[in-house]
Amino acid sequence: MSTILSISDLSKTYDGGFTALHPLNLDIARGEIFALLGPNGAGKTTLISIICGLVNASTGRVSVDGHDSITGFRKARAQIGLVPQELATESFETVWATVSFSRGLFGKPPNPALIEKILRDLSLWDKKDNRILTLSGGMKRRVMIAKALSHEPRILFLDEPTAGVDVDLRRDMWRLVRRLKDAGVTIILTTHYIEEAEEMADRIGVINRGRLMLVEEKDALMRNLGRKQVTVTLASQLGALPARLAERGVRLGDDGRALTWIYEPARVRAGMPGLLADIAAEGLTVADIDTRRSSLEDIFVDLVKGAQ
Ligand SMILES: Nc1ncnc2c1ncn2[C@@H]1O[C@H](COP(=O)(O)OP(=O)(O)OP(=O)(O)O)[C@@H](O)[C@H]1O
Ligand SMILES: [Mg+2]
Repeated sequence: MSTILSISDLSKTYDGGFTALHPLNLDIARGEIFALLGPNGAGKTTLISIICGLVNASTGRVSVDGHDSITGFRKARAQIGLVPQELATESFETVWATVSFSRGLFGKPPNPALIEKILRDLSLWDKKDNRILTLSGGMKRRVMIAKALSHEPRILFLDEPTAGVDVDLRRDMWRLVRRLKDAGVTIILTTHYIEEAEEMADRIGVINRGRLMLVEEKDALMRNLGRKQVTVTLASQLGALPARLAERGVRLGDDGRALTWIYEPARVRAGMPGLLADIAAEGLTVADIDTRRSSLEDIFVDLVKGAQ
């Protein structure tokens, strides 16, 4: 697995003295989808802006496929496509002209066939002769993506790509991201939507108050940190919770029939079988069992709350 983006000791203190990023290290592997998850003001846009050369870092450096983002700016930047969080597209130009021009900015020769493909992929082809300012918000966002792809970047940054977009566009975006990944593009996206990270990402980084709290393979994250909730409905009512179940951390619902147990599969040996054996040992009959694995959302909320 080779590294395409390497971030070392990067920090940012804005002019007013506010530290938006504490020294941070992160390597991104070629071809992966990395989701940066964090609440408002966590530092996501600041981080992306530094990598893309829009904001100066206070300390540290970024290497993009071997090119330093400052001393090798042009080469580093040419590898990168950025879809910014804020749309800046009040243009009188047409969609076609805007996207073609964007490619030219990176010194790439015209490639109408490629621009056509990008516009078709983003369902913008029938709008190609429309002026940008006549488009809807969602279409403008698609244009921003088309612009970012016009120079065939190897790394694509999507800063909140699906904030405020409808379900259709979100699905389109996800499909597009998968196609790009299949074509070998590395994708780094920021999002508030945990389900988006859960659905899309190979790895997830959680950032909060300018600190990278955690970076982990999504699957491992779900496996290691995911808690399980078991609800066992008993065939008959219980007056009180038997001691051995109470010791296990099981709770009895007000109805006297629902036993709820939350545990971490990674830490508890023989979780479910152990619980069922305890229930059987008490001579209780089980009517129903329901299990639920905690989602990434629970993990995220715990992490962010824990840091406060
Ligand atoms: N130009 C600036 N000058 C001073 N402070 C700034 C500047 N830009 C951002 N900040 C502060 O840095 C912190 C991080 O902002 P940033 O935009 O990186 O957060 P974010 O994680 O992208 O948030 P959001 O989810 O709302 O987009 C915030 O507290 C913000 O107010
Ligand atoms: Mg942001």
